[in-house]
Amino acid sequence: MIWLRELDESDRSRLFRWRNLHEVRRWMYTDHMIQRDEHDRWFASALIDPSRKYWIIMHDEEPIGVVNLIGLGNVGDTCSFGIYLGEQRARGTGAAKIALEKALQYAFDVRSLPCVAAEVLQGNRKAERLYEQVGMRSAGKAVLAPGGKAAKRYEISRQHWLQLHTQGGSVI
Ligand SMILES: CC(C)(COP(=O)(O)OP(=O)(O)OC[C@H]1O[C@@H](n2cnc3c(N)ncnc32)[C@H](O)[C@@H]1OP(=O)(O)O)[C@@H](O)C(=O)NCCC(=O)NCCS
Repeated sequence: MIWLRELDESDRSRLFRWRNLHEVRRWMYTDHMIQRDEHDRWFASALIDPSRKYWIIMHDEEPIGVVNLIGLGNVGDTCSFGIYLGEQRARGTGAAKIALEKALQYAFDVRSLPCVAAEVLQGNRKAERLYEQVGMRSAGKAVLAPGGKAAKRYEISRQHWLQLHTQGGSVI
């Protein structure tokens, strides 16, 4: 079973390892090898910042990845998400789709957000396919990511989410 649990102190080293994997890092806006002190500062703020929420994606009792929402500060704002699978064996299993749907369900059902967005670096077909599978649409906007890389913005509105899930039933 795929489920989400909240990030906690026990995840500090795991995330340091996962986030520096080439297959994860290459698709992030910040793509340098992260040093331990930089990670520790980031991790400490991720645990307490109320505008961000991080979950560990669990396969039964095994941690396999991370999904997060960022920009939860103001009621009515669009927030964005990030997702990666840190354990290679979890790729191509459908786990990411289930995890992303659970994060979107939290955004729309618990936080009542109007819209959730994500940006994808050009060439990241796995991520594009995943976002399209959960009902996101390309907003047709090219974004210039830091470092001059090209990216594409995807969005899903609360209205579209509700349409999909009243027709297709609950995702949990
Ligand atoms: C983006 C990312 C999370 C997608 O992971 P993924 O393994 O492709 O996604 P899923 O777990 O949903 O699996 C989907 C694949 O499993 C297959 N699959 C197998 N069983 C499945 C099932 N029961 N249900 C759904 N899909 C299934 C699908 O056909 C699909 O394969 P395909 O990609 O060849 O079409 C992963 O590639 C990753 O971590 N990338 C690095 C970080 C990154 O790019 N993050 C996004 C930008 S922030």
